[in-house]
Amino acid sequence: MKPAASLLVRHARELLTMNGPPPARDAKRAWEEAPLGCIADGAVALHEGVVVAVGRTADVESAIALTADATVIDARDELVAPGLVDAHTHGLFVGDRSNEYGMRVRGATYAEIAAQGGGIASSVRALRGAGDDTLERTLRARVARMRAFGTTTVEAKTGYALDTVNELRCLDVMGRVPGVVPTWLPFHAVPPELRGVADGRARYLRAVRDEMLPAVLAQGVARYVDAYLDGPGFQVDEVRAVIAAAQRAGLGVRLHVGQFEDVGGAEYAAEIGAASVDHLEHVSEAGLRAMAAAGVIAVLLPGAAFSLGQPMPDARRMRALGVDVALATDCNPGTSFTENLPLMASFAVRQMGLSTVEAWWAITRVAARSLGCESRAVIAPGHRASVVRYAMASWASLPYEFGAPQAVAVVADDARALARIG
Ligand code: NIG
Ligand code: FE
Repeated sequence: MKPAASLLVRHARELLTMNGPPPARDAKRAWEEAPLGCIADGAVALHEGVVVAVGRTADVESAIALTADATVIDARDELVAPGLVDAHTHGLFVGDRSNEYGMRVRGATYAEIAAQGGGIASSVRALRGAGDDTLERTLRARVARMRAFGTTTVEAKTGYALDTVNELRCLDVMGRVPGVVPTWLPFHAVPPELRGVADGRARYLRAVRDEMLPAVLAQGVARYVDAYLDGPGFQVDEVRAVIAAAQRAGLGVRLHVGQFEDVGGAEYAAEIGAASVDHLEHVSEAGLRAMAAAGVIAVLLPGAAFSLGQPMPDARRMRALGVDVALATDCNPGTSFTENLPLMASFAVRQMGLSTVEAWWAITRVAARSLGCESRAVIAPGHRASVVRYAMASWASLPYEFGAPQAVAVVADDARALARIG
């Protein structure tokens, strides 16, 4: 008997299944090959969120039995591909920090702006003053705009609350928005009320360990824990105990490492088996080799480097050393106010040494793997893949046509694919 299908997308000019081997690590071969599972005149059929057939349109049509109320979509002249995965955002924020960008462009540093009461502290004040409704509306609107770029999975971090009540409130909101993977980021900054206070830093670290950690674990919404390991952030030894306890409770670990300074975060991430290490503008070769050996994914954030006027992270060097690379927006009001993940692929191909094939992997499969949902980014029978129609002639257009939203519609997106980890 032929499998039933309630949704058929057919006649895509190109259908990218992403069902193939990973790209080669050397640049020349990574440009020459195209392991993206690309099918001309492609079709995909789904039933109850699960892919039942994929291939050339004629083959798929003869392999399935459409249900009486099935939806059939002609995607002529379009690219059909998995939804994109944004594996690093601070997407739940309110307030306005546009003035900081002007200050930075005129030469003020990120640290100087923070010292004047701007920076993360400014977002903390705004967020604590916003009601639950405002927070949820803001996050839903952001996720909806991201979908216009094809992004169907969005990791979102707390870290603009920095007290127990408000961190829990943020996680609760994130847990209610479909497609969002919540990350608890207590180690973003010392909260403004404890800065300049004698013992303030130590008091905050104790509050995270004794009060916030148990409350976050009891709430059960956070899937990952994160720490900003950097000169202006935290040191490895300050976060170890809390990260270890969170890991024991089943949370995965993502880490901000080396945006401004290498404080040994890459080596630490490898030691504890973190899911991802993000930023990496500054990292030693030993750190990268440790990450490669431990299978820790690098999540690179070209939007932050662009907005800060820093050199782009060296994706080619990381690939050559055996590190798998994902790309993310870092969407945040301070250093990367963008919701546009394909634009990060444009930066990566033009300025970070990735091939177009590697860039596709970096915003789909590798990013999804870092979030424990790789099958969602592969259009193959049995997968609860997210499927998007893009207004593009070819997969090669994604980094080439930069800046504008390219998704026509999200045609399949089953939240059950975001399985819990641990
Ligand atoms: O990833 N570096 C820490 N966190 C953000 C910036 C946060 C902010 O300035 O609001 C980042 O770049
Ligand atoms: Fe970040």
